Amino acid sequence: MPESKVYLPHERVTRGARINSIAEYQAMYEESVNDPEGFWAAQAEEMLEWKEKWDTTLEWDFEKPHVAWFKGGLTNASYNCLDRHANGPRRNKAAIIWESDSGRSKVYTYQSLLTKVCRFANVLKDHGIKKGDVVAIFMPMVPEVVTAMLACARIGAIHTVVFSGFSAQALRDRMQDSGAKAVITVDAGKRGGRVIPLKAMADEAMLECPTVKKCIVVSHSRATVDMQPERDFYYHEETRRRDISNDCEPEWVDAEHPLFILYTSGSTGKPKGVVHTTAGYLLGTALTTKYVFDIHDEDIYFCSADVGWITGHSYIVYGPLAIGATSLMFEGIPTYPNPGRFWEICEKHGVNQFYTAPTAIRSLMKSAPDAPNEYDLSCLRILGSVGEPINPEAWQWYYDVVGKGKCSVCDTWWQTESGAHMISNLPGCTPMKPGSASLPFFGVQPVILREDKTPADIGEEGRLCIKFPWPSMLRRMWGEDSEKRMMDNYFGQFPGHYFSGDGAVCDEDGFYWLKGRVDDVINVSGHRMSTAEVEAALNSYGDVAESAVVGYPHEIKGEGIYAYVVLNDGVEASDDLRKMIIGHVRKDIGPIAAPDFVHFVPDLPKTRSGKIMRRIVRKIAAGETDKEGFGDLSTLVDPSIVDTIIETRPNQ
Ligand code: WT7
Repeated sequence: MPESKVYLPHERVTRGARINSIAEYQAMYEESVNDPEGFWAAQAEEMLEWKEKWDTTLEWDFEKPHVAWFKGGLTNASYNCLDRHANGPRRNKAAIIWESDSGRSKVYTYQSLLTKVCRFANVLKDHGIKKGDVVAIFMPMVPEVVTAMLACARIGAIHTVVFSGFSAQALRDRMQDSGAKAVITVDAGKRGGRVIPLKAMADEAMLECPTVKKCIVVSHSRATVDMQPERDFYYHEETRRRDISNDCEPEWVDAEHPLFILYTSGSTGKPKGVVHTTAGYLLGTALTTKYVFDIHDEDIYFCSADVGWITGHSYIVYGPLAIGATSLMFEGIPTYPNPGRFWEICEKHGVNQFYTAPTAIRSLMKSAPDAPNEYDLSCLRILGSVGEPINPEAWQWYYDVVGKGKCSVCDTWWQTESGAHMISNLPGCTPMKPGSASLPFFGVQPVILREDKTPADIGEEGRLCIKFPWPSMLRRMWGEDSEKRMMDNYFGQFPGHYFSGDGAVCDEDGFYWLKGRVDDVINVSGHRMSTAEVEAALNSYGDVAESAVVGYPHEIKGEGIYAYVVLNDGVEASDDLRKMIIGHVRKDIGPIAAPDFVHFVPDLPKTRSGKIMRRIVRKIAAGETDKEGFGDLSTLVDPSIVDTIIETRPNQ
């Protein structure tokens, strides 16, 4: 744990903040963990609207595992995000401000978004989509992606958003696993001036997805696409039909009705479909948006994530809209047309809360360290960070140069599975220690355990677990064997606890310091990649005999992907082959999975039982060459391979 400076929230943040003393946080936290059911029931009453009240606040058994919140209650996520605001004083308030790649912007009020969502929900119904059906959404950051998500929620359909940077194969795998009935996509996406043919990719995926009967295409780039009769329809044509009504009564669903599936990487090769349910998820995202970003009615809030990830689901769409906030979404990338783009957007729209990832902060800090000074960023009050531990240098630049020392930097630790923030400082009261996510959110009960399952001491690194359910937690894995997979992935390692997969330390002030994943998951630019998944893609290339993938420290991305590749006998290593192999992974999973490094090796360091000694390949990837620090090598079949690998390591 680094000895760090402590910063107190600036008076301009504290003033007017919902919680502006640490004593107040502590009192509310105590209440939330001493009587979790009472706390959450009161919050559920206050934050959400219900068609019918629930019967039981909480059912849980982490040994099974089984968790249900607010069972028997009837509600609807789209109603909570739209109607109740559109039917009140926020009717003409901006719900979504959309900023395009090329610098145009559009505003959707609560009223206009509600109408769009109702019309599209009616279109979906007309195409046979019903409550409980899965709808895949393969869209970039266009406003219609929000409409599509909320239209699904309105009719009780379960959306599964697939990040538009993924490949056709990755889309196919997710549509097959989820049994999607329809896919919503765009003709082509635009990112940093590049055009990505999403409809053509969806066509390729649909060839092997017999359950997908309909494809709705948003016309975004005026690209020419193939439209298959009876299957493919244009969004604008369908939503403008005269027989489509502006009204669509929400489908009132049980609190535990699935809202969406989101695929994420685990230790195994296959992505897991994490299932989130309606009320608990909405409550968790709404409450954290309210307190962590301290959003007030007049604020403009900007989260730079993509809706293809959980951050976009929770903190562009559901959390902000549930509390009636104005959420700004951005189609482009931070460096196009120049690395001042984020700051330009903050100035243009008068952004008060800005939420991004350390990888973006590092890259902008490096490429244009003074760019924030060229813009008027005086509206900013809260600067959020998410995706990986934020290194103190990046924290300092964010705080000093972007925030001018007058904003709170909120380091939010959470996961796809947690649905909402779990550990974060609150901007108006928590002292900030750069690099620490600080204190648990209301109702969250973290513990740090040793491998032998006993609690770690203060200052001792262990595994971060959660010992009590929280409303926005994942409920199951989509598909068969959910209970077994839940046990294997999250609840089996430390019985009675949810295990996050992260290492962490708690200091004497009760502040948590995250130390990164302890499983075979790597964190590339705040995106989760499974090493097994990249290995499977590498191994499916004809010339590759086997491979081992590990993360290595990367200045901008946090972790880069380092691939050790053993070629088939008789195949010659070459730069061309390296490029072909990288291209293959790109096509198989998507550009984010492309190895930064391919190191051809004659063999991998394996134990007699055939297991790759990952500790060794990790160290070599990290640039360590001194075998002294490698530990015991005597169980290797051929210890000399370690020298060969060190000697052939390409220069970075
Ligand atoms: C993993 C979850 C949560 C949305 C983005 C990623 C790492 C996330 C932090 C943080 C340290 C962090 C963890 C976690 N992580 N935020 N503030 N400090 N680590 O979601 O893809 O589900 O990844 O991201 O390792 O387990 P995800």
